[in-house]
Amino acid sequence: MDFSLSEEHLAVKEAARDFAQHELLPGIIERDDHQLFPSDQVKMMGELGFMGMMVDPQYNGSGMDTISYVIALEEISKIDAAAAVIMSVNNSLVCWGLEEYGSEDIKNNYLKKLASGESLGAFCLSEPEAGSDATAIKTKALDQGDHFLLNGVKNWITNGGTASVYLVIAQSNPEKGYKGINAFVVEKQWEGVQIGPKENKLGIRSSDTHSIMFHDVKIPKANLIGQEGSGFKIAMNILNGGRIGIAAQALGIAAGAYELSLRYSTERKAFGKPISEHQAIQFKLADMATAIEASRLMCYHAAYRKDQNLSFAKESAMAKLLSSQTAMDVTAEAIQIHGGYGYVKEYHVERMLRDAKITQIYEGTSEIQRLVIAREILKSM
Ligand code: CAA
Repeated sequence: MDFSLSEEHLAVKEAARDFAQHELLPGIIERDDHQLFPSDQVKMMGELGFMGMMVDPQYNGSGMDTISYVIALEEISKIDAAAAVIMSVNNSLVCWGLEEYGSEDIKNNYLKKLASGESLGAFCLSEPEAGSDATAIKTKALDQGDHFLLNGVKNWITNGGTASVYLVIAQSNPEKGYKGINAFVVEKQWEGVQIGPKENKLGIRSSDTHSIMFHDVKIPKANLIGQEGSGFKIAMNILNGGRIGIAAQALGIAAGAYELSLRYSTERKAFGKPISEHQAIQFKLADMATAIEASRLMCYHAAYRKDQNLSFAKESAMAKLLSSQTAMDVTAEAIQIHGGYGYVKEYHVERMLRDAKITQIYEGTSEIQRLVIAREILKSM
């Protein structure tokens, strides 16, 4: 067992850290305040190879492993969790899904542009009445002979307004239950696609989240992803991978809040000495560092298993469950360490607490992660 990072991993860490410090930190409070999408920064992420990190270079990706992806997301999330989710959805929910399950035409027509950052992707599964209960989706894609006809509403779609390519999960044969569900590539510019208003969110405010309406949208048969009826399994497998990305995002939020707290605690004095010399603060720092280290190891482990083609549904759910709880705990303690300063925007940690909460909700709530973990444990008995 080797716990050391390779030269390549360290280079990715350095590049992502540098990008986050120099390109994401400036303006972050304003982007959060006014919900401004970081268009220039997303373009730069494409140029740096962060938008298709695990995609084969033949489809314009960076050809890196999932551990590199976790490392980059942690560094970016330390500064800007909103930019991280834009990147994560494009990488693991869209690019990975298309590379793993899409036809050669889909890879050439869509994946190449998504992986290079020329276009942005969104993953459309959730609906107004189907979030955790994903087999209950009502959006229909009915077979019309030479095309599928798409009708329905998708909710809380990350990158919903800015993406030009959607990976849409829809029901084609309701009588078959989840075995009637299909996955498709849909273009924003097609007739009948309508973007709903932007959600006004608690956190990750500069990422754009919309509902998307489909009215009689014609999907060419060539845009079906994988075999007919396999859409639900495809969505679940994509989410298994996506959860590693969200776990890394949560890890980064926690690590970012911890780094700020550590620095502040050595600078701020109370009762005649830096507060880091008071045991009350030392115990908090120790708990934060321990939870972050455990979360990081779980993220790396899930990523390692995915890279080795081993099963990773349980490990990714565990990594997300632990890291998202760590993000909540650490950001709350970070505010406590900062005292009154922690409660105002200039010190960043209040934004980090707001950003942390969504990691317990999207790509499967913590309750759903427990369900996935329990089912995997029982399956192996
Ligand atoms: N990996 C692989 N296959 C899975 C799976 C997983 N994690 N979970 C379920 N499946 C398979 C099952 O094995 C089953 O197939 P078989 O019959 O062949 O065995 C099939 O899918 C149906 O599963 P269940 O019978 O277990 O269905 P269920 O309704 O009891 O439970 C669920 C399904 C696990 C709860 C699922 O609905 C789920 O994961 N819900 C959460 C959905 C979610 O994560 N949504 C996130 C939205 S996307 C998002 O947030 C993106 C964003 O913008 C940031």
